[in-house]
Amino acid sequence: KTIAVVGCPFSGGQPKVGVDKGPIHLVEAGLLTQLKELGWNVQFDGHHQFEEISTADDPPIGKLKNPRFVSRVTKAVAQVVGDHAKKGQLPLTLGGDHSLAMGTISGTLDTYPDACVVWVDAHADINTADSTDSGNIHGMPVSFLMGLGSKIPEFGWVKSALRPDRIVYIGLRDVDAGEKRILKENDIKAFSMHEVDKYGIGKVVEMALDHVNPKRDRPIHLSFDVDALDPSVAPSTGTPVRGGLTFREGHYICEAIYETGLLVALDLMEVNPSLADEESVKQTVTVGCSLVRSALGETLL
Ligand code: ARG
Ligand code: MN
Ligand code: MN
Ligand code: MN
Repeated sequence: KTIAVVGCPFSGGQPKVGVDKGPIHLVEAGLLTQLKELGWNVQFDGHHQFEEISTADDPPIGKLKNPRFVSRVTKAVAQVVGDHAKKGQLPLTLGGDHSLAMGTISGTLDTYPDACVVWVDAHADINTADSTDSGNIHGMPVSFLMGLGSKIPEFGWVKSALRPDRIVYIGLRDVDAGEKRILKENDIKAFSMHEVDKYGIGKVVEMALDHVNPKRDRPIHLSFDVDALDPSVAPSTGTPVRGGLTFREGHYICEAIYETGLLVALDLMEVNPSLADEESVKQTVTVGCSLVRSALGETLL
């Protein structure tokens, strides 16, 4: 079986510089070798080069910042991820900011229309073009994938292919008021840190899969935002929120999804090596690599 590593040095979905260096650090830390040691064929064509669109040529559309740049990049990512998946390879996308998931999940659903998404994050990333306060598109990919909110012609290529009952969240703890409304209105299942505390991570993952994949027959796309982890575990990220998943809780999610045998695509997003001191960066990159290994079959025994 082959892993197709899609390195996406992209930061246009949010304002902080450095998140585009995430994939470079993950690969330099030896991630590809580690995956080979797990028995995978690893295909890596180098980090994808995106044609920059300067801010002058990319004024906001409504509140959306860098809309043309984000649209063009995520469209290209959808194509690349979809092509790899159609060849039977497992795309591993290294971000970059989480707007990229608009591309990765589009590519997955284009290949596996019945796939479900497990979204692990401190944030719901489901603001619409109308509800967003920040205008940062990394806070919106899920609503675009579902076709919620005002239609933005620039993003016309995104099919409304993600059904609200085909996504489940784990780890939420910083959800905007508008997003809470959207989650309720669309009956979207979410396990916040409150549920993780209440039931424990083992039960939460089981309940999450029971909701989104009751017969355990649907392909799974795991989109992991490193800020789901507590900032003491993964400090180098753009929007850290305290009270997050422990090291083991994060890894448990990845291990349990691997055990289903249903994983068809994996994202690791929002590692930003420009934030925090050198030791914190190393810690975050190392934990990023080990999350990926757990999702791809590394076991403790
Ligand atoms: N909800 C906030 C916003 O819309 C924060 C989103 C953070 N997203 C992320 N992928 N880190 O801007
Ligand atoms: Mn490729
Ligand atoms: Mn997040
Ligand atoms: Mn996110």
